[in-house]
Amino acid sequence: MTPRFVLAIDQGTTSSRCLVFDRHARLAGLAQRVHRQHYPRSGWVEQDALEIWRTVERILPAALRDAGIGVEQVAAIGIANQRETTVVWDRATGVPVRPAIVWQDIRTEEFVESLRNSPAAQRITELSGLPLATYFAAPRLRWLLDDVEGLRARAERGEVLVGTMESWLIWNLTGGVHVTDVTNAGRTLLMNLTTRQWDDELLRLFDIPRAMLPRIEPSTGDFGTAVTAAPGVRIGAALGDQHAALFGQTCFAPGETECTYGTGGFLMMNTGSELIRSAHGLLTTIGYQIGEEPVYALEGPIAVTGSLVGWLRDIVGLITTAPEIETLASTVDDNGGCYLVPAFSGLYAPHWRSDARGLLIGLTSYVTKGHLARAALEATAWQTRDVLEAMNADAGLRARSLRVAGGMTSNNLLMQIIADVLDIPVTRPLVTETVSLGAAYAAGLAAGYWPDLQGLRRNWRAAAQWVPGHNRSAREDEYEHWQRAVQLSIGWSR
Ligand code: G3P
Repeated sequence: MTPRFVLAIDQGTTSSRCLVFDRHARLAGLAQRVHRQHYPRSGWVEQDALEIWRTVERILPAALRDAGIGVEQVAAIGIANQRETTVVWDRATGVPVRPAIVWQDIRTEEFVESLRNSPAAQRITELSGLPLATYFAAPRLRWLLDDVEGLRARAERGEVLVGTMESWLIWNLTGGVHVTDVTNAGRTLLMNLTTRQWDDELLRLFDIPRAMLPRIEPSTGDFGTAVTAAPGVRIGAALGDQHAALFGQTCFAPGETECTYGTGGFLMMNTGSELIRSAHGLLTTIGYQIGEEPVYALEGPIAVTGSLVGWLRDIVGLITTAPEIETLASTVDDNGGCYLVPAFSGLYAPHWRSDARGLLIGLTSYVTKGHLARAALEATAWQTRDVLEAMNADAGLRARSLRVAGGMTSNNLLMQIIADVLDIPVTRPLVTETVSLGAAYAAGLAAGYWPDLQGLRRNWRAAAQWVPGHNRSAREDEYEHWQRAVQLSIGWSR
């Protein structure tokens, strides 16, 4: 039987999803499950990697059932995953030695701050394309190797393995293939951006034994065949979720830019075959590698966007459901002079200050709940502008529009504010599952299910567009206030 579908796993920060797509990128089946977040200390964020694996093991067959198909109808599996979250497990038993440490976790702040502006930090950036920050995997892997007694010796003997979430899932799905892809490996601080292999100097700098690391493949490559959950189906692709989003948005040409708004916001611009080293606080990253040649990208990660709305709902109680933020913010015409800098995990791009902390400023008795809601939405827009300005400066060109996806894009007010603040059109495609679609596209290309990129482009259609309004000078004044607020948040934890 000719396979008629491709399966995508999106292992995200708060949930795992499995989606079945047909040749026209139409969704044929879906299953989703959330997993728990653990906050054992201030700044620590952990997940149970076994819980995540069991979740994924169940949603694969559930998605096939939802689509009403069997594994023989699936051409390949593509995996997209939350990046930088790190897990170390025992090679013999498959049991993690500690909970997975999540990308938002800032327990390595002291180590990272101790190297700020040092020659070692500069060298790390030269080799990896990334600033030294708590966000990436290597500092937390080093922390684990120091913290768990005897772990480094076991790692040197190859008795324990490390991986980001795609590695962990592939190892479990295939019954023992230990592999990663360039986009995920490129977020560890351990991969050399030019050779696209683990770098001896970086391994030495972080004191990481090579024996515990997975093999690095292109985004489409030899990831093995599933022996459980979808037995017999080949894993054709793996990509970090934001790289998959770039691919799913069909941003295949240099200058094409997209942003996915989930827990955080992640803005990526395709820079083609050109590896642009950022001079403005962005990450130089591999967008994707289908076959031999990598396609590079500039990325500006923003740590807190959607999770700010979650915090206002779950912790502060300002709203009871996420969509209420739009209703509340719509009760006012502006922010009433109020600015909210959500530096809960420090500030990521373009500032990279792990010593920043959240800040609410500009309060007067005039400020209402509506203004607070509006300031929270604007925080996402201002942060996007900070990143886009850096991106335009690095790339030497202006992004002409922004393709968006992710949970927050159902908030029309927010999308309009972003278009106003960036002063460019913002477009949401018909298929908003861009992360899963990107993973499916890559796996489908690897399996010959889709012939080429041009065919994929034809599947992309705009569903909604927001164009900038006219009150430009007021916006510029507000942006200056935002920048002042950001400066005040920096250094607070010292
Ligand atoms: O770098 C972290 C990012 O990959 C997480 O994405 O959508 O799971 O919050 P998301």
